[in-house]
Amino acid sequence: MKLARGDFPEGFLFGAATSSYQIEGHAFGGAGRTHWDDFAATPGNVVRAENGARACEHYHRWAEDLDLMAAANFDAYRFSLSWARILPEGRGTANPEGLDFYDRLVDGICARGLKPMAQLYHWELPSALADRGGWRNRDIAGWFADFAERIMARIGDRVWAVAPINEPWCVAWLSHFLGLHAPGLRDIRAAARAMHHVLLAHGTAVGALRAAGIGNIGGVFNFEYAAPADASAGAGAAADLYDAIYNRWFVSAVFNGAYPEPALKGLEPHLPAGWQDDFATIGAPLDWVGANYYTRKLIAPDTGPWPALREVPGPLPKTDMGWEIFPEGLGHFLVRLARDHSGPLPIYVTENGMASAGQGGDPAQDPERTAYLEAHLEEVRRAIAAGVPVAGYVVWSLLDNYEWAAGYDKRFGLVHVDFETMERRPKASYRALARALSRP
Ligand code: FCB
Repeated sequence: MKLARGDFPEGFLFGAATSSYQIEGHAFGGAGRTHWDDFAATPGNVVRAENGARACEHYHRWAEDLDLMAAANFDAYRFSLSWARILPEGRGTANPEGLDFYDRLVDGICARGLKPMAQLYHWELPSALADRGGWRNRDIAGWFADFAERIMARIGDRVWAVAPINEPWCVAWLSHFLGLHAPGLRDIRAAARAMHHVLLAHGTAVGALRAAGIGNIGGVFNFEYAAPADASAGAGAAADLYDAIYNRWFVSAVFNGAYPEPALKGLEPHLPAGWQDDFATIGAPLDWVGANYYTRKLIAPDTGPWPALREVPGPLPKTDMGWEIFPEGLGHFLVRLARDHSGPLPIYVTENGMASAGQGGDPAQDPERTAYLEAHLEEVRRAIAAGVPVAGYVVWSLLDNYEWAAGYDKRFGLVHVDFETMERRPKASYRALARALSRP
């Protein structure tokens, strides 16, 4: 890697991310059942019906994993807290083992000189709350804020930064309209409700945390560059609608107090009554904003009911996920986020990375991952030069892990994990980053 720490402003933060269900092993430590366990147990949802019962056994190996974080010269570790590990029923009695686990983990992060960046929800909804309608039920805002307060009462004194809900688009659209993530619904009314309630839960939790004296609260959103499949007006409109649903719905609600028109046109009939009155809660002030970015999509118009669009395979080189590599999209979103939504707030790239099995049959030989990260870091540099307040960059992911519907097939880690022996083996990209981030 040609880039190095010195190419970024003083204090620019480098980190790597993981999430609880993807690495911990939900069979350990008294965690409650989650809707991902249910989704994975349903035929056809997940590759080989794999789930997160064992994952990377991080629950037992967390100290070794934090050592790997520190040895790579990172400044911050972005991790998530499992709601069902802390409150197995989603509400009510806490699991003391779960609270103790995160207490030790946060101490371990601090002890290694890393800044803990806590994500409160990274998708493993307790099944008991799914039974009550999950994200379709407006009450989730209160359930989630209670959970947020309870865990932060335990670890908030040491957490450096906190964000409520990872990637609201995935929580709502991917999971309730496209049906590709838990709970696997394909239902426009469910989707519209989730699109709104995820934001209400975000804002309610931000307000509750603020009232409890917690600071440095952000929001983490994902973005996917939407390009028209051809030069036709129809493709242009389809790409704009895709962009409105994916990239503008959530940040417009949080920062601009409104939903984008093209998306609202299709979703309004299905939104819960009184949605217009919730923007004061949704827009609770934030201290920073996180952007997760991986790829672009080519969008074409389609027949059938709204939104009447479809994805078309693109010509660019692809990762193992089949995702086109398009670093320019990251630069585009950083500029646009500051310009149209978050203004002067610090922006962190909270996720960026690629799935790759490595070269020549050796998963640790991954020059393509180093190149991917470097190309995206170049875009970050360009955005900073253009005046965008980008303050940090976090790689997805420290470890190969449970890649949701793709099971354990897709490897995003800087560190290879053998899912039989659980042995960790740093890849070439890990070593390249460690060198780039070393301090003189
Ligand atoms: C993001 C998720 C993360 C991981 C990466 C590849 O959308 O936040 O858990 O699955 O994609």
